[in-house]
Amino acid sequence: MNALHPPIKKLNALLESGKRGEFIAMARSAKKLLKLYPKSSILLNLAGVAHANLNVFTKAVGFYMKALAIEPNNADFLNNLGNAQVALKEYDLAIQNFEKAIYINPAFSLAYNNLGIALKAQGKVELAAEFFAKALSIDPMLIDSHVHLGDAFLEQAKIASAQRAFRTAIEIDDHCVHAYWNLSGASSSFAEAKKWLQLCVNIDPTCEKAVLMLCFMDLWETDNTDILERVPPEYTNHPFVRSFSWVLGLSERPLLLFNRWSFYDAVIKMCVGTKPFYEFGVWRGASFRYLLKSLDRGFGFDTFRGLPEAWHDNSPGSYDSDGEAPVLDGGEFIAGEFEYTLPKFFSKPRETASVINFDADLYSSTICALSYARKVIDDKTILIFDEMLMNERWEEDEYRALVEFCERQKLRFRVLAVCLFSKQVAVTLTPI
Ligand SMILES: C[S@@+](CC[C@H](N)C(=O)[O-])C[C@H]1O[C@@H](n2cnc3c(N)ncnc32)[C@H](O)[C@@H]1O
Repeated sequence: MNALHPPIKKLNALLESGKRGEFIAMARSAKKLLKLYPKSSILLNLAGVAHANLNVFTKAVGFYMKALAIEPNNADFLNNLGNAQVALKEYDLAIQNFEKAIYINPAFSLAYNNLGIALKAQGKVELAAEFFAKALSIDPMLIDSHVHLGDAFLEQAKIASAQRAFRTAIEIDDHCVHAYWNLSGASSSFAEAKKWLQLCVNIDPTCEKAVLMLCFMDLWETDNTDILERVPPEYTNHPFVRSFSWVLGLSERPLLLFNRWSFYDAVIKMCVGTKPFYEFGVWRGASFRYLLKSLDRGFGFDTFRGLPEAWHDNSPGSYDSDGEAPVLDGGEFIAGEFEYTLPKFFSKPRETASVINFDADLYSSTICALSYARKVIDDKTILIFDEMLMNERWEEDEYRALVEFCERQKLRFRVLAVCLFSKQVAVTLTPI
């Protein structure tokens, strides 16, 4: 093994430089060296790291597995394998590997952090928060863990805790762009959101999303609608710019909110709260639970097995909740695909909805839910489209379903509220 040290040192130096070209060089060198030393677990791991940094995650997994076949109890290799599996959205496998890494090295702060990331991706945000906190109890300077902990708090509607976690990240590193960006998305006012965005751009003028969002906010403030005049030509087709254009082009100004939970609060204030709400797309019940705090009865529809078909780069089965519906007082859950459950459910008389949360992401699911829910929509019902704007191809999903539904039913929609950070839009419908 000693003979390997100089080349491995060189590979490590390439790794630390963090540049794409260097990772390509690293992958090539590792390949050559592996011909000479095919049983070197260190080389196999480095080849994995190079491929992971080049976003070739399946190859990375292959290398890590070979390294682990030689050294099964190497916690670093297990942690690296888990990270590549997270990138491939193989969360269950990743979790097993992080847990094994932690078992081998109980002080492995990064493995706790990464375990938290995998759990958060599965929607297990409370548990994820515990692991971020555990990582921080071992290494309080782990900035990423502060940011992830903040995200996990934000997803649980714990806004003050989220803000504290993001601020701590900034105290450790006042150039932590993610923390500034996330603070803007945890804001409760226009001025607060703008302040954090401005700080974000001061620190990193190339932070595209913050630059674009600030540009929108300037236009909003000055009652100017022409975003296309403000952004360079290469941005005219950017999904953010298309979303801003849509919002700025509305005939009436909607309320503008800055985080998911204040958006729901605003909708709840405007709705007829004595009626039940309906939610299409429940997953583990985060939004349902929140709505239920103010609207005391709700019906939730979901497969509880995840998306029935692929949604852009999310494969079928994404958002699986292991077949389990939440158990919540005041909540009634109907399990199965909408196209099978809704005909039966809506064959009986149902109360008009106060709010309907459409959060099934897919066009096909949203149009199906809209069609069956037509019976419980009146002109006071507020329809939330929970992920309507900002995504790369947002016009093909919930937005398309809303527009087509209105055309078919001869309805027009009026936009009441928008939250660009959480991509939500709330509308009411009236006959044309
Ligand atoms: C983004 S998740 C919902 C998130 C949830 N509202 C929350 O606050 O965490 C989308 C959900 O829609 C469900 N879904 C999508 N299409 C469906 C369909 N056709 N029938 C039943 N459930 C569907 C998926 O199972 C998934 O749980």
